[in-house]
Amino acid sequence: MPWLKKLVGAIVILGGVGAVAGWVGSAPVRLDRETLAKLGPGDAARGKRIFYAGGCTSCHAKPGSQGDARLQLVGGLELKTPFGTFVPPNISQDAKDGIGAWSVEDLANAMLKGVSPSGRHFYPAFPYASYARMNPADIGDLYAFLKTLPAVAGKAPANSLGFPFNIRRGIGLWKLLYLSDQPVVPFPAGTPDPVMAGRYLVEGPGHCGECHTFFFVPPAR
Ligand code: HEC
Ligand code: HEC
Repeated sequence: MPWLKKLVGAIVILGGVGAVAGWVGSAPVRLDRETLAKLGPGDAARGKRIFYAGGCTSCHAKPGSQGDARLQLVGGLELKTPFGTFVPPNISQDAKDGIGAWSVEDLANAMLKGVSPSGRHFYPAFPYASYARMNPADIGDLYAFLKTLPAVAGKAPANSLGFPFNIRRGIGLWKLLYLSDQPVVPFPAGTPDPVMAGRYLVEGPGHCGECHTFFFVPPAR
């Protein structure tokens, strides 16, 4: 049955092409130089506002901590989802266990592209699908504010995810569908500034849609 051989051959070739396309398409993409140039010198006072708008403490503070202790960003909260349990890591200024050794470019690639300094994809449980809409200058300010927070040693436990969700590379394909820096809700030219500023807070740092929209609806492009 020569046709069967041909069919199997075609399937193998198509499978190979698909695998190569999937591998290439899922590669982590970092910010371009043009965007990195907009990070600016960073202003900690402005960054404080972004830090609270972004709700970083709700996931990265030690679970159950109160008051100023919430600024010790040691991580460890368990975010239980249908994919498994995500654990926000230590993002304090500790150079070994936190992000004290990160550059502002590292933070920008994490927040705007979901890519770690070593080139791994982050899981979107870290709401960078919203943060990706933030202005680079706000990331520069946020970085300056994070620098004023304490260094606290201690690694948070690792995520615990089942197959295939434990394979980070697959997130690259998810990003092709869902990662965008474009606004979700289009507004016509001439929309008043406070409305535009409010949209920015809601869709960007405030990441309201991460909880208040239906899971997995692709953003409008
Ligand atoms: C809804 C929970 C949540 C919020 C809110 C959140 N994060 Fe995270 N963050 C995570 C999770 C979960 C991870 C780990 C993702 C992974 O394992 O890929 C993470 C990872 C990170 C990392 C990577 C750290 C490392 O060691 O690789 C940085 C940096 C970070 N977050 C900064 C922030 C900042 C800054 C804010 C506020 C603007 C913030 N996060 C808000 C959940 C959150
Ligand atoms: C991490 C998930 C999450 C994010 C992010 C989030 N919310 Fe919520 N929100 C909730 C939950 C859960 C409730 C219900 C709380 C309750 O009933 O105690 C809620 C309640 C509300 C309510 C009250 C609704 C009512 O009918 O009582 C408003 C208003 C609201 N959120 C607005 C916002 C806005 C605006 C943002 C962005 C700045 C936002 N939320 C971001 C999870 C979230």
